[in-house]
Amino acid sequence: MPHGSTLIVLFWQLAHAWNSSICMHAAEVEIRNAPEKSQMFVTTSHLYKRHLAEYFCGMGGNMTALELGVYHGHTTAVLAAIFRRVISVDIEKEYLEVASKNAAAHSNVIFLSMDLMADDWTIFSTNQVSVGIIDANHHYEYVMADAQNALRHLPHLQYLVFDDYHEEEVERAVTELEEAGVLVECQGIGNGWNGSPWEFQDWDPGSGQQFKRWTTQSEGRICKRSPARAGWKTLPGFVNKRFFVYRQPLTHLCQAGVFRFLANGTLLTSWESGGGSWQAAASTTREDLLILKLPGLLSSELELIFNSGRTAFMLSEVGSSRADWFGIYDQLVNRPFQIASSLF
Ligand SMILES: C[S@@+](CC[C@H](N)C(=O)[O-])C[C@H]1O[C@@H](n2cnc3c(N)ncnc32)[C@H](O)[C@@H]1O
Ligand SMILES: *[C@@H]1O[C@H](CO)[C@@H](O)[C@H](O)[C@H]1NC(C)=O
Ligand SMILES: *[C@@H]1O[C@H](CO)[C@@H](O)[C@H](O)[C@H]1NC(C)=O
Ligand SMILES: *[C@@H]1O[C@H](CO)[C@@H](O)[C@H](O)[C@H]1NC(C)=O
Repeated sequence: MPHGSTLIVLFWQLAHAWNSSICMHAAEVEIRNAPEKSQMFVTTSHLYKRHLAEYFCGMGGNMTALELGVYHGHTTAVLAAIFRRVISVDIEKEYLEVASKNAAAHSNVIFLSMDLMADDWTIFSTNQVSVGIIDANHHYEYVMADAQNALRHLPHLQYLVFDDYHEEEVERAVTELEEAGVLVECQGIGNGWNGSPWEFQDWDPGSGQQFKRWTTQSEGRICKRSPARAGWKTLPGFVNKRFFVYRQPLTHLCQAGVFRFLANGTLLTSWESGGGSWQAAASTTREDLLILKLPGLLSSELELIFNSGRTAFMLSEVGSSRADWFGIYDQLVNRPFQIASSLF
């Protein structure tokens, strides 16, 4: 005769297996509704969607997922079948309208129109998001920003999923986060998950021409967030971003130059006087303070202080109380122009 507590455990395991199989079944219905990647290359493959279901069915029933990049909502519908709640974000309102029709069978999806690069991520922070699915813009800087924003603004985040990992820039961003120890226990999903070759639709950014190419890299990658958050400080939020620099006082909005802070301490500028270097200020533990050297411009050092979001800075000569320069993240400057032009 099994002991009482053994019976409870058995019962729980049975209920769990039952829940998982219901989840797999509901996900499979949506997978069959979705076009295959060969018909619509913008969406994920059936295999990717199935691997998501296999990974998260059984634990997703009490989790909230945040989907970054929705397009026509074919992955959204699968996520809605797996997770308790799904928040799906895209910059294009027209795509969200199509997606909301494609996921109409599910009442647990909230669609939000937002620019992930420029708009305020703090709107997510009280939603207990456990899983982030990163599938918006696939350029390195964007993937890195989405991952870093997720890590910074989602205190309950446990998993990050990346699509189009076979693209060089996505792979580079994910690899850096893995090497920094921020993401751990990663595994391939979707086409090529086991290293077998598959053919995908690629394009030449110069000519815009599309062509097919083979790869053995996986279509997607699921990672766990390191509980220790080891190595987090090696990837400060301003690295690799472009900042427009203005001379103070800001009486007219004419850019004086462009800065980019590379991870290795190099500072690239658009100035003829050349670039220089940056480092954390040694005299303090404040992470918002940098010391810059721009030898072509000035013999003395400059002191840079970031705002808390690392989206803007003030720059002055060391010891001076006056900030001569103001820097701002390029995406923040471009955003009002995008919004206004989308209304024509
Ligand atoms: C590859 S598609 C997403 C495909 C979708 N996850 C699927 O599996 O069917 C990328 C989407 O990201 C959106 N996107 C691109 N840049 C964005 C940004 N800065 N903020 C929000 N969405 C963005 C695009 O509008 C596009 O719909
Ligand atoms: C099964 O799913 C229901 C409804 O989502 C949930 O309340 C319950 O806790 C789940 N049970 C197990 C054992 O996962
Ligand atoms: C989901 O349930 C598991 C097991 O009961 C629990 O450990 C976990 O914290 C829950 N997650 C959320 C987001 O509520
Ligand atoms: C830093 O990286 C850039 C670009 O990868 C490279 O050109 C430069 O030489 C590097 N500088 C140092 C000091 O390692």
